[in-house]
Amino acid sequence: MKVPFLDLRIIDENERRELLGAIAEVFDHGRFILGPEVARLEQRIARLTHTRHAVGVNSGTDALILSLRALGIGPGDEVITTPLSFIATANAIALNGAHPVFADILDDMTLDPQSIEPLITDKTRALLPVHWAGRVCRMEEILPIARKHNLVVVEDCSQAFGAHRHGQPAGSFGACGCFSMNTMKCLASIGEAGMVVTDREDWREKLEALRYNGLINREKCHYVSHNGRLDTIQAAVIDKRLNGYEHLLAQRRDHARYYLETLQSVATIPKEDAGCRDIYYTFTLQVEHRDALKEWLEQRGIECRIQHFPLMPDQPAYRDNTRNNTRRAHELIRRMLCIPASEKVTVEQREYVAAQILKFYNSGS
Ligand SMILES: Cc1ncc(COP(=O)(O)O)c(C=O)c1O
Repeated sequence: MKVPFLDLRIIDENERRELLGAIAEVFDHGRFILGPEVARLEQRIARLTHTRHAVGVNSGTDALILSLRALGIGPGDEVITTPLSFIATANAIALNGAHPVFADILDDMTLDPQSIEPLITDKTRALLPVHWAGRVCRMEEILPIARKHNLVVVEDCSQAFGAHRHGQPAGSFGACGCFSMNTMKCLASIGEAGMVVTDREDWREKLEALRYNGLINREKCHYVSHNGRLDTIQAAVIDKRLNGYEHLLAQRRDHARYYLETLQSVATIPKEDAGCRDIYYTFTLQVEHRDALKEWLEQRGIECRIQHFPLMPDQPAYRDNTRNNTRRAHELIRRMLCIPASEKVTVEQREYVAAQILKFYNSGS
């Protein structure tokens, strides 16, 4: 049996018809950038994230770059973040001229609040927690640290649309919440897309200028920025997919529940905290003999990933970064393995994946 990690094809006839219909509507009105579907999606995303405003941008990377820029983060500033993320998180900080400083992670692979304070200096301006793999960080511990040291908080919710911590949605804790809606994400476009959410009207206005070359109207450029607007076709697709999003999350959470029950004797798997909702952008095991297991599974047609290796401070672009505190992250990255768990994975496939993992450990391979 073959089990791909992700299958991005749109082969379900109903979905195909719905999405083509939404795209045809954009063809009809012809407003291909920031058309009415963008405004409609922004309103829905703001409502769902319990925030006042949402600003559509062309990627999660741009959501982060523009949020930090809107909040005045720039040259000489330090931003404390996690070492475990897609490299866009660190790049967004560095592209604004600021310096990423890497704190540690907890066993559940989100930012360790206790590792933050020792890294704070008089240059620290912001905290950038990443709700890794769809689990919201311990914001109830992170926000008081930010308040105590007068730091702004930007959430990287790229992997966490729809996740919540004790009822509060990802994106609603900090000054800005940044989402990626690229084609691999749970809430996905058919290309690149992103969104920033915020409660503040002045930040919304600034973000709207920043997403289009810093222009506040057709003529006046108030800020140095680039073009990061959201395509209408992408917004139309995301808007349609939002209708089935709870169902999609239920399928992912069902796979997660199954794997948790079946694999807990051979793997460490962080459980969802009570009263919280993880959305399982990836399903990650922590295991002994990780590399041998990966090879064993791949020989049996099961595609696995190690997300995100290498850790950001170990990337060549950031290797000269001297201030970080990432001991636990370095231990965990050697044990992590993401197995297929998307909504496209069938019950037969997940049973096959689990059976092969158990066989690997029980046969002493
Ligand atoms: C945690 C994290 N941050 C930022 C990004 C960047 O998003 P995008 O690919 O939409 O630019 C991603 C997406 O891959 C991500 O997973």
